[in-house]
Amino acid sequence: MKKIIGLTYDLKGDVTAGENDPADLNAELDKPATIDSIAGAFESAGHTVKRIGHVWNLLAQWDDLDVDIVFNICEGHAGRNRESQVPLLLEMKGIPYVGSDALTLGITLDKIVAKKCFIADGIPTPRYFEAASSENLKKLAKGLKFPLIVKPHHEGSSKGLSRKSRVTSLKELKEQIDLINKVYKQKALVEEFISGTEFTVGVIGNGKPVALPVVQIAIEGKTKLGDDFYTFTRLSQQAHMIEYPCPAKISAKLTRQLQTIAVAAYQSVGCLDFGRVDFRVDAKGRPYVLEINPLPCLSQEDTFNFMAQAMGISYNDIINRIINEAFKRYGMDRSVAKKRGSIPPRAEAVAAR
Ligand SMILES: Nc1ncnc2c1ncn2[C@@H]1O[C@H](COP(=O)(O)OP(=O)(O)O)[C@@H](O)[C@H]1O
Ligand SMILES: [Mg+2]
Repeated sequence: MKKIIGLTYDLKGDVTAGENDPADLNAELDKPATIDSIAGAFESAGHTVKRIGHVWNLLAQWDDLDVDIVFNICEGHAGRNRESQVPLLLEMKGIPYVGSDALTLGITLDKIVAKKCFIADGIPTPRYFEAASSENLKKLAKGLKFPLIVKPHHEGSSKGLSRKSRVTSLKELKEQIDLINKVYKQKALVEEFISGTEFTVGVIGNGKPVALPVVQIAIEGKTKLGDDFYTFTRLSQQAHMIEYPCPAKISAKLTRQLQTIAVAAYQSVGCLDFGRVDFRVDAKGRPYVLEINPLPCLSQEDTFNFMAQAMGISYNDIINRIINEAFKRYGMDRSVAKKRGSIPPRAEAVAAR
């Protein structure tokens, strides 16, 4: 079962900011240390790793890829389809890859489209409206209760968020929508601000995906965040101020609720192999899904590693669990294919999608 695993990724250093670009331009992209950690995990399991890098490198090696499977964590560089580019190319070439497909990555990168799926499937998510401009705000915001939060609709890693993103008046709302429209050149997603606590839940698997131990978000030692929240500036300047207690010290009932909703959100948008769902819980204990990340950060300092620790397994173990899900899905795990007997591996892979 030793494989050649291609790694596709975008490094922070791959992007040079232009004069008019925001300071958080490359916030979502990976550090070389994360790529080393992931490669190390696969090598520890006896696989061979081929580092491919970004989509242009993939295209440059198009006729000479020579890999059994690709572990893709490319965030892409621009537009709401940027995460879909690598999976789409690999699909065209018939190369197996780990993680969600192009459609799911497109749906989830656009937080508004993902919310529409959640609402259709009865998954709780904050009430919202979208704003391509700051006209007719009174009408658009009708029915929503201030405070609101104004976010870019297709960014991640708290891009576009500052303390001013939480707004308490129409005037502040207008300023923030204008900022998102102008600086981030996209529609704003305006949501009711959920005052309370914050959690994130990892999910692994296909068919019957499993939720991992719940991670709580603590800021400056506080888990009762109230009106406090994650911003890019905070993350970049005071990373140590944010902690991820796991498993969260919350009731068994809330744990179960968050895990059940996380799996439902994962299935709602058709995630494959792994993902992570971000939540706020209000003062009355009601959970709301903020977003789902089919490409969650896999750095050793990020939440997936804390979930692994809470499960009593290592970083290397959890990374290999993720790729093993893809091996099973594609029928590349011989023992599984054998157990299932008559189903040819390829047909099984298609059936699992
Ligand atoms: N509706 C909301 N209520 C309260 N806080 C929010 C809300 N939406 C976002 N936040 C805060 O902003 C952070 C980033 O928002 P999120 O929607 O998860 O986008 P991303 O992580 O992709 O930047 C969250 O982790 C949370 O701290
Ligand atoms: Mg998030």
